[in-house]
Amino acid sequence: APASAGLADRHGRRATDLRLSVIDKCNLRCTYCMPAAGLPWLPAAQLMSPAEIVRIVGVGVGELGVTELRLTGGEPLVRGDLEEILAAVRAAHPRLPVSMTTNAIGLASRAQALAAAGLDRINVSLDSLDAETFKALARRDRLGDVLAGAEAAAAAGLSPVKINAVLMAGVNDHEAADLLAWALRRGFALRFIEQMPLDADHGWRREEMVTAAQVRDRLSQRFRLDPHPGQRAGAPAELWEVRPPAGGPVLGTVGVIASVTEPFCAACTRTRITAEGRIRSCLFSHEETDLLSLLRAGASDAQLAELWRAAMWAKPAAHGMDHPGLDSPDYVQPERSMSAIGG
Ligand code: 5AD
Ligand code: SF4
Repeated sequence: APASAGLADRHGRRATDLRLSVIDKCNLRCTYCMPAAGLPWLPAAQLMSPAEIVRIVGVGVGELGVTELRLTGGEPLVRGDLEEILAAVRAAHPRLPVSMTTNAIGLASRAQALAAAGLDRINVSLDSLDAETFKALARRDRLGDVLAGAEAAAAAGLSPVKINAVLMAGVNDHEAADLLAWALRRGFALRFIEQMPLDADHGWRREEMVTAAQVRDRLSQRFRLDPHPGQRAGAPAELWEVRPPAGGPVLGTVGVIASVTEPFCAACTRTRITAEGRIRSCLFSHEETDLLSLLRAGASDAQLAELWRAAMWAKPAAHGMDHPGLDSPDYVQPERSMSAIGG
């Protein structure tokens, strides 16, 4: 990697958006992510401590041009010291935008403290508003906790609350418009994400995936969608303005993220750190680079930055999933499931 170019790669991109997983564990078992029995969790000693997280974020921001931090999991709220992590990051970086992707279980009692500690925004993963469907999908009966968590986040000023929904054919795809109506009513920003082949059970089937085009069709049965004027080129979410079917005032917006059918790899600005402190240049990488061991061995910030830059220089051009032929020859699923990588 050339010197002093931040987290550049050989395909001309530069990563500025750090997604850092604080824990691999989760208290749900969403079928598109985890196996029913869970996964062998990392021992606590292998997770980054709050001080180690602050050090790594500091290297990213101070040496490598990182401008934005998102905490992911597993489920970040499973960590009891999340407030401490946030407060420490915030003390070191008063103006860094910090967000979190969460299933919102337990958020109802922690949203205020997380906001006070420095969290700016959250994305809540929610795929169904029907308790039975939620249970079928997440293999846990926790819809009420998730809804309470989302409300508490809004009340704590973690706004806008974004909602991430994954649709699966024959499971919850009939709920697309219901989810949108609910999100508009609540003032939440809903985004549908195409299901990616990252589940631990390797159960993803292209023909069962609900495509972005199908999501738009389903929403169009109840709403009018027009391209959002503020659409950014290369942004992951295609944004739509939502109106009543006969036209009229804008009710809100909805995003559709076509990760598989219209990939945005060419515009990717992400760099990832797994819960055990390894660099992943891409969600779909087959390689990881152990940053935490180097840190624990006493490396300097400059040495950590150098390893990180080298790992990102090798970032793959694209994930190779966007070929219609059954399970593209270009695509080999990473060994780890989504929960073990961080979303
Ligand atoms: N495909 C698409 N999205 C997924 N997520 C988890 N697994 C998958 C998958 N296979 C989503 C979750 C959450 C975020 C971390 O990623 O629903 O919103
Ligand atoms: Fe947990 Fe998120 Fe995976 Fe569901 S998608 S099992 S909430 S990590």
